[in-house]
Amino acid sequence: MKIIAHRGLSGFYPENTMLAFKKCLNLNIYGIELDVQKTKDNHLVVIHDEKIDRTFNGTGYVKDMTLKELQSLNSNFKNYENNKDCKIPTLKEVLILFKPTNFTINIELKNNKVKYRNLEENVINLVKDLKMEKRVIISSFRMKSLHSVKSLCPKISRSYLISERFYKYRLKSMIFSKAIKNKSTYISSSYCITDKYLTNKCHRRDLQIFCYTVNTVEEYEKLLKLKVDGIFTDFPNIISSINKQT
Ligand code: G3P
Repeated sequence: MKIIAHRGLSGFYPENTMLAFKKCLNLNIYGIELDVQKTKDNHLVVIHDEKIDRTFNGTGYVKDMTLKELQSLNSNFKNYENNKDCKIPTLKEVLILFKPTNFTINIELKNNKVKYRNLEENVINLVKDLKMEKRVIISSFRMKSLHSVKSLCPKISRSYLISERFYKYRLKSMIFSKAIKNKSTYISSSYCITDKYLTNKCHRRDLQIFCYTVNTVEEYEKLLKLKVDGIFTDFPNIISSINKQT
């Protein structure tokens, strides 16, 4: 089972920060997952929410602030407020950290609420500049974005994200026809909707299935039985220590 650190080692350290990513470097895992948004002055930054309020000591949207303003903020995570490695990192900083390793980097495009202009193109240009096309997976809840990724750089792997809400309101078969048409290699599905039906259907169509967010040993064992290919977890250190298949 491929273990992917969800937002870094986020069960113990502030999510999506250099500290949370550096803490993964010595783990025996497949890779890390991160979320990308864009600043007012067009920098690619790594943060999950469209707003800074939950994770940093400020208020407002990432899209309305410059990189300098964003990087002046401190983490809200107890005991890490003044840690210099707990600022909002740029995507470039994180990619450079992992470039000398064999980690896979799953970049989630956070463009389902704020429609960032040229987000796909900006991310791909950076990945290409760093010659990391074979090292990343780009995921999105928006198939339109995955189509852009495919046409801009077909050699970058793509993953179609599906949530409970999406699964409920769309025809299940539509998910697969969309993913196959896009030649996506992966489906990233929410734990609540991951079952035998979904897993078998993915495998029959040559799609690997990664499941989010898996934080207990019981959940991990259930997914191992289902033959899910990978999981996103906030506790990659704990799950990797019991991982039976790599
Ligand atoms: O990319 C997998 C998973 O992280 C998607 O959920 O809410 O963390 O963006 P979320």
